[in-house]
Formats: sequence, structure tokens, C-alpha cells
Amino acid sequence: MNGGPRREAGEAWAFRARVEREAARRFERLGAAISAFDPGSPVPALLQRAAGDERRHAVLCAELCAAYGQPVDEGVADEPIAPASLGPRAAVLYEMVAACCLTETESVATLATLLSEEAEPRVREVLHEIARDEVVHSRMGWAHLAREAAVQDVSFLSAWIPSMLSGTVDEGLFTRDEPEPDAEALLRHGVLPRSRKREIFVRTLEEVVLPGLERLGVDAGPARAWLAKRSS
Ligand SMILES: [Fe+2]
Ligand SMILES: [Fe+2]
Repeated sequence: MNGGPRREAGEAWAFRARVEREAARRFERLGAAISAFDPGSPVPALLQRAAGDERRHAVLCAELCAAYGQPVDEGVADEPIAPASLGPRAAVLYEMVAACCLTETESVATLATLLSEEAEPRVREVLHEIARDEVVHSRMGWAHLAREAAVQDVSFLSAWIPSMLSGTVDEGLFTRDEPEPDAEALLRHGVLPRSRKREIFVRTLEEVVLPGLERLGVDAGPARAWLAKRSS
């Protein structure tokens, strides 16, 4: 492992800082879009508040990144992630499901696992503060999906879940399996070893995300096939 666990932890926190900044931008953009077609929705106000949370998380992650001696990059990219073939309202739904129902739900599970381990005190405080907010962020996705499912057919999402999943995880999570000698040290600095990460990702998908989608009329068959192909 290049540079040891502190360096790897610094890079992981730098990556998280960037993801948090991107989430802030995305939530602002999605909030504005939803209020335009669904003015009665409570979700835009939640997205606005969540954008503020993400900016706060970005600062916390950047502080840890600096504490581990890694440079903090200030770049923010907020590219809409929905396929171009979707209409504007369906594209917003795609992004809300990918960013909140999938990413934020997985993030809650990852943070809960990290919090169950022995982390350094400052790492623990940061994980704790972020975890508290991500639970609420995940709910915004389910609330928006439920609202949309009440007024239109959302079954088209089913075929898109695999591409959302591919956009959420690094394929290396399923393909590489080198030994991780620094696994214990990484946990102390708030980073999950790959084998744990994969286990939590799959379990959360099977136990929380896919059943949640199915309850709202999104068939999870294509997502299960995506998973089966990778976990065999
Ligand atoms: Fe966050
Ligand atoms: Fe979040």
C-alpha cells in the first residue's frame, strides 16, 4: 500500500470532501427543479437544508484530510447524471433515486459500520455528525419517489437501476481482492477495508434499497441481475 494508512486515509477524506461539495450543488439544483413542476412538494425545502448540511460535511472532511497531510482540492463538478433520453421530470427522479435512495442510504450503512469500530476521537465526531444528517438525506429520495409514484408510472426506473449502481460504486469493489494489511489502521481513520465495504454495500442493497424500490412499484429484477453478475 503506497504511503501507508495515514496517506490512504487522507486521500479517502479528500475524496469525501469533494463528494460532499458535489452533493451540495446537486441538491440545490434538484430542489429548484422540483419546485418548478411540483410546487406543493416538501422535498425542495429539505434539499435546501441538505445542501447546507453537505457544505458543512465538506468542511469537516477537508479538515480531516488536511490533518492527514493531504492537499484539499477545491474543485466542484455538478454534472447532471441522468441519461439524455429521459425527459426533464424523469431525469430529476433518476437523480433523486441515485443520489438519495441509493447513495445516501449506502452512506448511512457505511457510517454506522465505521461508528461501530474503534475510530480516533476526532474521526468519530465527524462520522457521527455526518451520519445524523445522511439519514434525513436518504429519506428525501424516498419521499420524492413516493410522491412521483402517486401521480405517474415510475416503473421505467427499473431498467436504469443498474446504471445508477455502476455510477455509485467503483467496479474494483467487486473485482480486486488483494490482501489489505492496513485494514485495522484504516478503520481507526474512518476508512472501510474493501471486503467490508462490499459486504455492507450488498447487504444494504438487498435488505433496504431494493425492497424499498419494489414497494413503490420499481421492479428490482435488473438490479438483482447486476448484483448476481458481480458477486458470483
Ligand atoms: Fe454528506
Ligand atoms: Fe448527504
